[in-house]
Amino acid sequence: MIDKRFAFEQLPDWVEDQVIAWRRYLHQHPELSFHEHETAAFVENTLREMEGLTISRPTPTSVVAVLKGDQLGPVIAFRADMDALPIHEENTFDFVSSTPGVMHACGHDGHTAMLLAAAKLLTEKRDYLRGEIRFIFQHAEELPPGGAIELVEAGVMDGVDYVFGVHLASLLPVGQIGIRHGEMMASPDNFTIVIKGYGGHAGYPHRAVDVITVGTQLVGHLQHIVSRLTDPLERLVVSVTQFTAGSSHNVIPHSATLKGTVRSFKPSVRQEVPEIIRKMSEGIAALYGATVEVNFVYGYEPVINDEWLTNLVHEAAVEVVGADLVIATPPGMGGEDFSAYQQRVRGTFVNIGAGNEAEGIIFPHHHPKFTIDESSLLTGVKLFLQVADKLLTTKS
Ligand code: NI
Repeated sequence: MIDKRFAFEQLPDWVEDQVIAWRRYLHQHPELSFHEHETAAFVENTLREMEGLTISRPTPTSVVAVLKGDQLGPVIAFRADMDALPIHEENTFDFVSSTPGVMHACGHDGHTAMLLAAAKLLTEKRDYLRGEIRFIFQHAEELPPGGAIELVEAGVMDGVDYVFGVHLASLLPVGQIGIRHGEMMASPDNFTIVIKGYGGHAGYPHRAVDVITVGTQLVGHLQHIVSRLTDPLERLVVSVTQFTAGSSHNVIPHSATLKGTVRSFKPSVRQEVPEIIRKMSEGIAALYGATVEVNFVYGYEPVINDEWLTNLVHEAAVEVVGADLVIATPPGMGGEDFSAYQQRVRGTFVNIGAGNEAEGIIFPHHHPKFTIDESSLLTGVKLFLQVADKLLTTKS
């Protein structure tokens, strides 16, 4: 009997060594967002060795490969991100970053390796494929406005029915898959508040307008947005992350700058908060005779998973690791530009456990000692295949 399924209970022998080798090569050669030239070339060259793919470069540092079946069927996009971070790696294994100050500290090396392996396995069974798979190797997930929106604008979602993506998660034990229905990751919006006062001598504060006093009052008041001024049932974070002012012991500075981030899910909350920040800043500044300029920049849309597709992926995950190892991931207040695809088509995003306490693989994402348990890569590859199996095998 011919095995028409894409899914494997046991992956072919070559997969493990190959996916680890790809991940290690990418780990050793990290590139920052929008600068993934070598990475994209590596991905393109690797894909060119596979049969049946139509390969394109929608932007200078992204790669899309299309695999089409002979029969009509759904079009599904699988997405991996490829960029690294401006972090100096502190790991000591023999494939650490060869570029000082740049590191794959979020697992995107693993995402790319897993999707390459899935592409190779699926091309080998393309005779049984109906519909179409688009393998999207995306640049610049880490840096707004992000690569996803550029790819959407370049048309990569045109005609797509479903989009599916995974993220390795070092704080989730290896072997587990984390599924989230609905709201999964927040929209990360940023604000900058410049407070302008009247500089002067620290010994004569009454002749100055002290921006540090205004700024500290404002930091305190901003905490009330979550606790007093918005619906307590909505998920919302307001964090001030930078406060810059002053240069000496005896000078009251002329201006101060506050920066921070707002994390939320609902469009109504997203609209409401900037207005509150503006009013609060102007009101407090006015009390002391200062003025403010408030600038608000909207970031990625929130990641909100499609119910139907999430159910399907949930089933696929149970088939891959067993029901006991599929867990309900809680929503988080981090951001992800996968949401740009979900604005266009039904999509779901899942976490693949990659942590291993016994092996010391315990560091959070974006930490200089971040790494993954590489057996997580096999879980990810299997999940891509299982999802493809559910949506795209020929029924005959
Ligand atoms: Ni990431």
